[in-house]
Amino acid sequence: MSSAAVSTDPQDPRVSVDPLVATCRQISKLLGEARPSNTLRMAAPQLVEALPDIAQAASSKDLTKAIDEHLEETRGHVKRLEEVFEAIGIQPESEHCDGMEGLISEGSEVAEAAGDGDARDAALIGAAQRVEHYEIAAYGTARTLARQLGHTDAAKLLGETLDEESAADEKLTKIAEKSVNRAAAR
Ligand SMILES: [Fe+2]
Repeated sequence: MSSAAVSTDPQDPRVSVDPLVATCRQISKLLGEARPSNTLRMAAPQLVEALPDIAQAASSKDLTKAIDEHLEETRGHVKRLEEVFEAIGIQPESEHCDGMEGLISEGSEVAEAAGDGDARDAALIGAAQRVEHYEIAAYGTARTLARQLGHTDAAKLLGETLDEESAADEKLTKIAEKSVNRAAAR
């Protein structure tokens, strides 16, 4: 899906709110709290909370390292998104993200599965890449909107995170191709 398909015309009756604000709020939800009742932003963001268990379930040292490294990056993404909100002049909101919950639930199911470690690693890479693609779509849309609406600083920040999400996705592909998929197929 092309992010350029999103209407940015304020006269467009389908646009009831600034589309960049709406998209950034969706990303905030995506990285937001696991417990909607916690209004003080005390709970760890959903993904940051789930990644350590998924990293621990991996048999491949390369995969564990890649997930742990991306966990640190994801903590940075949460902070960077707050800078984006500041740059576009709105307050971040903490809401539950059903989409991310579903993806994390799939990943946790794989992490807890019994059986062959190599096969589990291949499935964990698939689950992790579904999360990355979800994030890439969200950040790509937000960066395009920010550029088109003249929010240069926000676009730069969103682009930095987008690049890190894409690099994480590519790293997972390399680990799959280099070792995990071959071991799982044996
Ligand atoms: Fe990510």
